[in-house]
Amino acid sequence: MCGIVGYIGHKDAYPILIKGLKRLEYRGYDSAGIALINGKTRTYKCKGKVSDLETFIANQDKSGNIGMGHTRWATHGEPNDVNAHPHISENGYFTVIHNGIIENYDTLKKELISNGYSFKSETDTEVLSNLIEYIFLSKKEITAEKAVRYALSKVIGAYGILVAAKDETNILIAARKGSPLVIGIGHNEYFFASDATPIVEHTKSVIYLDDGQMAIVERDNLMLKTIQNDVLKPEVTEIDINIESIEKDGYDHFMLKEIFEQPIAIKDTFRGRVSKRHQRIYLGGLHKVLPKINNAKRIIIIGCGTSWHAGLVGEYLLEEYARIPVEVEYASEFRYRNPIITEDDVVIAISQSGETADTLAAIKLAKEKGATVIGVCNVVGASIPRETHAGVYTHAGPEIGVASTKAFTAQVTVLTMMALMLGRERGNIDAKLYMEMITAMSNVPKNITKILEQSDLIKKIADKYKDASNFLYLGRGALFPVALEGALKLKEISYIHAEGYPAAEMKHGPIALIDEKMPVVVIATKDKSYEKVVTNIQEVKARKGVVIAIVTEGDQIIKNLANHVIEVPKGHDSIIPLLAVIPLQLISYYIAVARDCNVDQPRNLAKSVTVE
Ligand code: G6P
Repeated sequence: MCGIVGYIGHKDAYPILIKGLKRLEYRGYDSAGIALINGKTRTYKCKGKVSDLETFIANQDKSGNIGMGHTRWATHGEPNDVNAHPHISENGYFTVIHNGIIENYDTLKKELISNGYSFKSETDTEVLSNLIEYIFLSKKEITAEKAVRYALSKVIGAYGILVAAKDETNILIAARKGSPLVIGIGHNEYFFASDATPIVEHTKSVIYLDDGQMAIVERDNLMLKTIQNDVLKPEVTEIDINIESIEKDGYDHFMLKEIFEQPIAIKDTFRGRVSKRHQRIYLGGLHKVLPKINNAKRIIIIGCGTSWHAGLVGEYLLEEYARIPVEVEYASEFRYRNPIITEDDVVIAISQSGETADTLAAIKLAKEKGATVIGVCNVVGASIPRETHAGVYTHAGPEIGVASTKAFTAQVTVLTMMALMLGRERGNIDAKLYMEMITAMSNVPKNITKILEQSDLIKKIADKYKDASNFLYLGRGALFPVALEGALKLKEISYIHAEGYPAAEMKHGPIALIDEKMPVVVIATKDKSYEKVVTNIQEVKARKGVVIAIVTEGDQIIKNLANHVIEVPKGHDSIIPLLAVIPLQLISYYIAVARDCNVDQPRNLAKSVTVE
């Protein structure tokens, strides 16, 4: 939620900041703002996208070698010019941008009001800027750094902040608790951002701030401290992201690019882990916790949104092959319900961004209760991989489109590898079957390519049903969560109401909705439930529903029944979720485009939800 960027150095800050904001726009895009510091501070902010801000600033003074920028996803106060960041304290001493939520902002605000402060915006961030200023003015001879430190000691909640001070125009102060902040190290210059994507084109050397840390940064010096004022030695990391991976590369949208990248993304997820030659699947990141997993009484998978759906697919696969009982929970529910967790439990936390606030909090809770926690994350160096005991990176590359696609298939790939590796280790899969599965996994990228080749057909189907008001998605077994994911994709980017259901449950409710206007997407590949799903299709047809079926190539029976079929190649049951989701992603994409929706930045959503 919200993206923040900053720069201090000798170059013009404005082009660096505006480009950085465009890279971070996926984190929030209801308003944006910039502060430029050139002896004095100039602030420009407005409702709308970063491009609106650019137009707004076009004829303004853009000079300054120091600056900060913010793109907002509203929490406190509606999106408008006043609530946009940066927020300047009442007497102009401090300028602040913030990602996160100050939970005790109301109490702090009342205290500040009783001390004569008034507020222009409804935001918690303005409270923070005034609090810093109040402390600065009421204590004698205090530095900006000290004022920020004292203010943060009074704050409850989450923040990634950048602060500029009127009296010390050659420094920027960054601090983090709960919301990510990365600092890029250049030559006599530093870059700040919520994630590494705005930084990679300037430098690959970065420092990831940890919770409770702050950095006091001049052009040629960085001092890292705890918020309690203990000096720390910065740990410099080299980031491994190339610039092409964060550009659209000729595609109309990031989402389409990311859908088409899936064969490569999955190969990258396999790399060094699945070997046909060595007849082996091995996840090195789990090495030290393997005994724990093998002895686990239970696996609990937690995540939010699409990551939760990946977890549901994982449940089927892990139970089937590893034969360990699995529960899957929304991280947001798990953390608030005093769950019974013991040292014999293994928790798998799934997150593309590695920053989702509810998932992070659920991990902390599980650790407190003694469980072993494993992370499955895409963003290297994010908070979740640093908070877990062990983990597996999905290595799908940066995912920029707000609707998750390649991150999902990469997560399912990791869970499939995990299920097969454990299944073999625990003696549930014999050598012959294991080899068949390894071959099936190795063939996934080329089989996804075959599905992507049907995109023209899928686009035609999408165009035909773009005006439907409701969609139903049906699947059974591990394909039920794929149905949920298909429905979520459609809701997210085209704003059509859609529901995912286990196919057999249709007759317990959703069947009442079916009429000739209702498209029903049925995942009906050939597995042990095939006949039952065919019956479900007949039930839909008997009520004049429109059936779009995802079938195994060559299926004639369903071809004769359904209005449309999209074929996926044959494969072992364990890998069909990875194939069946691809047409669903494309259906949503083409419907959203046909409805003229903003595919990469759907309304009200954000890629990374760092608020609770
Ligand atoms: C947001 C995004 C979803 C994502 C979910 C969980 O809602 O819009 O696409 O699935 O967060 O995010 P995570 O980064 O934890 O996977």
